Amino acid sequence: MMLSAVAWAVDSGATGSTVPDGRAIFEARCAACHGSDGKGAPGRAALKIAMPDFSDCSFASREPDGDWRAVAHDGGPARGFSELMPAHGKLLSEAEIAAVVKHLRSFCSDRRWPRGELNLPRPLVTEKAFPEDEALITTFANVNRDGEVATDLLFEKRIGPRAMLEIALPVVAVEQRSATSSHWNAGVGDVGLGAKYAFFHSLESGSIASLGGELKIPTGDEDRGLGQGTVVFEPYLAAGQRLPWNSFAQLQLLGEIPTERDMADEIQLRLALGNAFSLRPHGRVLAPMVEMIGAWKLGDESETDWDIVPQIQVPLSRRQHIRVDLGVRIPLTNTDERATRFGAYLLWDWFDGGLLDGW
Ligand code: HEC
Repeated sequence: MMLSAVAWAVDSGATGSTVPDGRAIFEARCAACHGSDGKGAPGRAALKIAMPDFSDCSFASREPDGDWRAVAHDGGPARGFSELMPAHGKLLSEAEIAAVVKHLRSFCSDRRWPRGELNLPRPLVTEKAFPEDEALITTFANVNRDGEVATDLLFEKRIGPRAMLEIALPVVAVEQRSATSSHWNAGVGDVGLGAKYAFFHSLESGSIASLGGELKIPTGDEDRGLGQGTVVFEPYLAAGQRLPWNSFAQLQLLGEIPTERDMADEIQLRLALGNAFSLRPHGRVLAPMVEMIGAWKLGDESETDWDIVPQIQVPLSRRQHIRVDLGVRIPLTNTDERATRFGAYLLWDWFDGGLLDGW
């Protein structure tokens, strides 16, 4: 088995002493269908397929080079697109494919849009810095102590190049035990409304940083253990950094500020380290990750809570717009009070295609 980093790397391929002329290759091999302006050749309307518009930054910026190189090399079906997009892997070298993809990049010149390379794999707990168009179901279920299953339905909508709005609808089931019996309470938890803005990004240094916040509204019944019973404000700073060998780090510094002032404020530090690799060149990208989560209650004598969350993210669809992540959140401190939890999400990057597209 050959491990390959090609699918995810920013600039592999351009080796050798002479850099191929991407524009000339594009004109010779691609422009008949994609148009010299990258918007799709008019005559190709007969293909009865919506051609991608490489000058549309909202579309082009979020696609990492690796995905475009995979499509150029292996043809549309490699990423669940039409076979009308032919494979060029036998006609062009990796360096020529890298050069023509670089030319595709020249059609969108608006640098406000952070590039898809900075859209690092989403960890189970740590919030990403990249603004997304995603729908997500996340579940955490206790594997020891009292039963609890917390499922979050999350919808994220990108606004322009750098901003994002988010709504989170939790559904919670908790076991309540007394000396003689136990029963389950289930219902809606505290609904969350959030926003995020990527104030810095650089493809060259592989960095992105955002400021965001979430307002938790006490829609969950506090007496039945489903909600906190007060409005909670959660401001945060999120940052992502690409590292050598297709590794990456993501960091989130978060405050939890209940408006009811006799409740303690909390600060959380979340750090995710991971690696993105594929089993063959231009193949799907797998991302094993580990998160460390530290939580401090301010003005409280209780010690810091530390958790570790090993996990792996796996794409399900060929287009990789539908992915799962499976992991375990293990408490490292206060282990006699806190449960170990199984965690999972199912993610749908809906901008990249419908639920039934791209398989
Ligand atoms: C015979 C026509 C044809 C030629 C020649 C062609 N393409 Fe395509 N290409 C298509 C079609 C059609 C699609 C859209 C497929 C879909 O949406 O299912 C496409 C899609 C793509 C995409 C995917 C964009 C996305 O949605 O992420 C890339 C990248 C691409 N082409 C690059 C190239 C490059 C580079 C060349 C030249 C080396 C090239 N194409 C040559 C027809 C063509």
